[in-house]
Amino acid sequence: MSARKRLNPDELRSHRYLGPDDLRSFGHRSRQKQSGFATEEFAGRPVVGILNTWNDLISCHAHFRQRAEEVKRGVWQAGGFPVEIPVMGLSETFMKPTSMYYRNFLAMETEEVLRTYPIDAAVLMGGCDKTTPALLMGALSADVPSIVMPGGPMNRTSWRGEPLASGTDVWKYWAERGAGRLSCDSWCELEDHIAASPGHCMTMGTASTMTALAESMGMCLSGASSVPATHSGHSRMAAATGRAAVEIGWHDLRPSQILTRQAVENGVTALMALGGSTNAIVHLMALAGRSSVQLSLEDFDEISQRTPVLANLRPTGKYVMGDFYEAGGLRALLARISDLLHLDAETVEFRTLGDSIDGAESYDDDVIRIRENPVCETGSLAVLRGNLAPNGCVIKPAAAEADLLQHRGPAVVFRDYPDLKARIDDPTLELTRDHVIVLQNAGPLGAPGIPEWGMLPLPKYLLEQGVRDMVRISDARMSGTSYGACVLHVSPESFAGGPLAVVRTGDMIRLDVAARTLDLEISAAEMQQRLSEWQAPEPRFSRGYGKLYEEQTTQSHEGCDFRFLHDDGSSPPPPAIY
Ligand code: FES
Repeated sequence: MSARKRLNPDELRSHRYLGPDDLRSFGHRSRQKQSGFATEEFAGRPVVGILNTWNDLISCHAHFRQRAEEVKRGVWQAGGFPVEIPVMGLSETFMKPTSMYYRNFLAMETEEVLRTYPIDAAVLMGGCDKTTPALLMGALSADVPSIVMPGGPMNRTSWRGEPLASGTDVWKYWAERGAGRLSCDSWCELEDHIAASPGHCMTMGTASTMTALAESMGMCLSGASSVPATHSGHSRMAAATGRAAVEIGWHDLRPSQILTRQAVENGVTALMALGGSTNAIVHLMALAGRSSVQLSLEDFDEISQRTPVLANLRPTGKYVMGDFYEAGGLRALLARISDLLHLDAETVEFRTLGDSIDGAESYDDDVIRIRENPVCETGSLAVLRGNLAPNGCVIKPAAAEADLLQHRGPAVVFRDYPDLKARIDDPTLELTRDHVIVLQNAGPLGAPGIPEWGMLPLPKYLLEQGVRDMVRISDARMSGTSYGACVLHVSPESFAGGPLAVVRTGDMIRLDVAARTLDLEISAAEMQQRLSEWQAPEPRFSRGYGKLYEEQTTQSHEGCDFRFLHDDGSSPPPPAIY
């Protein structure tokens, strides 16, 4: 445990509000008393802000009101003063155009809530996809001591004797329905079973990935991210998180001290060993963009090429998070790749990552594979470049049909998502498995919000023939629960005049994942000619959040954060506001 100085009560940030003998502090104290608290309950002890992303439309967080009470229990036990603060819940299942459109909104809210209130430490209650990265981004920018309380995956479930996996099996059975092999009644029946309890998606989708990365980077209690949401251990973990929050408050242990380059590399290594979501790349780039940590797409590719996939979890593998927990969870996985990690990286528990995973065991070598028998030797995710994606794009080879990873085929181009929906099943297109489906205008600005459309649908007539994968290219993202030979996050995006905008139906496209290339087979002169003829679309928002988003959002390879929130670590702290 590192020797960090314990603050005196009058050095706490909250003391500025609650301690002085002046008019303002009189107001603060009197209003705490209005809430029924005596001075000795709130003054001279760390105030812990519990940022709760619960609302009635974010079913993954249905247990968060109870968990907030359990966090409070822990805070009281450790001698802190808990205050629960609702912040925007980013519901993956309900928000349009996509929850990603609002990730930066929650990040801003988090940063400003932490800045404006008398908070010495924060518990970040995240789970459903974008909540965890948004809370981390905001906490890092505010640089107030913070700890993540991961929401936990939902229960395992099954249907007609077959285990079900969130998202992944929705896509699978939707394809079966498209192929005419699943009736409407069966599809409706599936609806009753696919999400069987509170908790986030129980595959290694974006939610499981991001909470696991928070733990790998030292931002939550060791072992916390694997605990299922309805397990009694989840309540105990919530209380323990509250107790830990008091300690990081007393010692002013800040996110900037935890989220170092080493910690972020640990996160990327865990991402690869988990076979985690492609979305994590965008989120980690955004997180790094708010600090002095230098991170590039090539870092992901380099770490991918030296890291085996050991977690046999859907969509890449066979099992779901409940199995992972029972097999030993993230600690066991990290112990199996300990030689690839920076073990001396510090965590919110005032110890090193190496100490956190010391002695962790795996109890099922099929769920958490041994190094000699990985799910994939290396290359969970790959970063590609070429004349079609000068600033990079991403593919998840581990979740694609292997023969498509080196492919040359004619493009069929859809100008936007409505066009795709309207025409994909048109038999006159005469698509074959060799075609390359291209979707334009689905990126950060084009959609807007870079939605999870990247697992582009296959034509019904090919599904009926048994085709289940094709090369698909877009500037969109795809759900972490999705799969297929889907090239994603093409940057620059088509809406901003990237080369994807000038692909035409019939052009030949060459994908070579081993060589890390994606190219449109036209000459440089032809490319230049087409790009010079491209006309930028008119801005679509004249006011409000949309205007801010349109003017400030960066491209995928930069993390899609707002430009004005970037910080390479050299920005002076904001002025004190009285
Ligand atoms: Fe919330 Fe998947 S819908 S995590």
